[in-house]
Amino acid sequence: MRHQTIKELLSNHKLDETTELNGWVKTFRSNRFIALNDGSTLQNLQCVIDFESLEESLIKKITTGAAIHVKGPLVESQGKGQSVELQVEEITILGEADAETYPIQPKKHSLEFLREKAHLRVRTNTFAAIMRVRSALAFAVHDYFQKEGFYYMNTPIITASDAEGAGETFNVSTLEKKNPPLNEEGEINFKEDFFGKETNLTVSGQLEAETFAMGLGKVYTFGPTFRAENSNTSRHLAEFWMIEPEMAFYDLDDNMDLAEDFIKYTISYVLEHCKEDLNFLDKRMADEEKQKPQIERSDMSLMERLNFVISNEFKRVSYTEAIDILKNSKPNKKKKFKFPVNEWGVDLQSEHERYLVEKHFKCPVILFDYPANIKAFYMRLNEDEKTVRAMDILFPGIGEIVGGSQREERYDVLVEKMKQLGIEEDELWWYLDLRKFGTAVHSGFGLGFERLVLFVTGMGNIRDVIPYPRTPQNASF
Ligand code: 4AD
Ligand code: MG
Repeated sequence: MRHQTIKELLSNHKLDETTELNGWVKTFRSNRFIALNDGSTLQNLQCVIDFESLEESLIKKITTGAAIHVKGPLVESQGKGQSVELQVEEITILGEADAETYPIQPKKHSLEFLREKAHLRVRTNTFAAIMRVRSALAFAVHDYFQKEGFYYMNTPIITASDAEGAGETFNVSTLEKKNPPLNEEGEINFKEDFFGKETNLTVSGQLEAETFAMGLGKVYTFGPTFRAENSNTSRHLAEFWMIEPEMAFYDLDDNMDLAEDFIKYTISYVLEHCKEDLNFLDKRMADEEKQKPQIERSDMSLMERLNFVISNEFKRVSYTEAIDILKNSKPNKKKKFKFPVNEWGVDLQSEHERYLVEKHFKCPVILFDYPANIKAFYMRLNEDEKTVRAMDILFPGIGEIVGGSQREERYDVLVEKMKQLGIEEDELWWYLDLRKFGTAVHSGFGLGFERLVLFVTGMGNIRDVIPYPRTPQNASF
């Protein structure tokens, strides 16, 4: 039997037809009105019971959180707030929820409290809305790339390389922890480990995606990535989902065009398909903003922000121009930055990125041509031999949402770079092979999926836009 959802029912119903539904009780008032929700939509269906015909013991079990089955005709509603309601003729309690101990009561719970109850928080309006939007965004990602002629590929989760070279990997090993086998130098002998070498969880699928781009032309990955960076911030997860397109024959400008078009598409998609949830999240954000001091308040509502992003061009600025702007900025002169900007070559901190986006340009910014020595080894060296063809997309309230580059396609230049950084040629021989056999200009980028969800939902903490966040000291659920 195919079960009907409240969403389907509300979008296409016939009055007086007998209907059956399953769901959870949101509220039960006056011993008569059940607000039923089944997760398919933000909207509850009002179910009206005739309490005189029901046993008191059954009525007592209609509590917030209980799972129930109802049957009866759908009729025009007498009350305000809904157009139709279900006149309950039969009700079955499928699963009780003890009112004393069920934590999700019909009142405002703090996000911190709900993080501790992450297995139940999806039953709140806020988290259900976030997770429906997240699902739609994931679909939009595939929809965009499939329409644009990209092939979806899966890159390995277990790998021996640290693509970003940041040394922030989680080890994967089956060696005994207490007495691992040692080599002659007294170090752990990974030759005896499961894979015969030291392995870790991937920080990026890029290097493997490059191999596929050089055969399939345009590909993308969408998978989990893992970083053991000890940054306990509202923007970092130890396990997050990344979308990484990689395109043969694309240079950095093509790459920026694609990234901008892609982001705008996904946001437009949810604006069209998740109106109800976004309106709810818009109100939620407005309430949150009211709690903040005036100067910290955002001057746009969530909906305004989303519409602004899809209808305005992202500002493209070179790293060098950005440094000039930052050097001469008020907060820098007044020593308000925690990391002062004194010279060309410094890495940008999130305070700098947010100044550029939120105060200076007041729109999304694409920064490009970064100093070579603050970026990964694979980025293409510019003619000035100081900068690389890197690009980061910076968003208001988020900071970096995309990191990408044109890749170094010249064998000699890449080998030289790897030597300088001490990256073993033996480990990446296959990556170097791409530069030996039919090499070509190519580019790609990585979009942090949770950062996109964060932006679209107007939430403030990345822990609230992934079902079960993995962060330092926390891997519950
Ligand atoms: O800038 P990143 O490190 O770039 C790469 O990994 C490249 N290999 C991508 C490519 O060119 N194919 O990471 C890309 C994006 C960031 O811009 C950010 O949105 C997200 O991934 N990200 C994180 N999101 C959540 N938690 C973390 N710890 C993240 N680290 C990066
Ligand atoms: Mg980056």
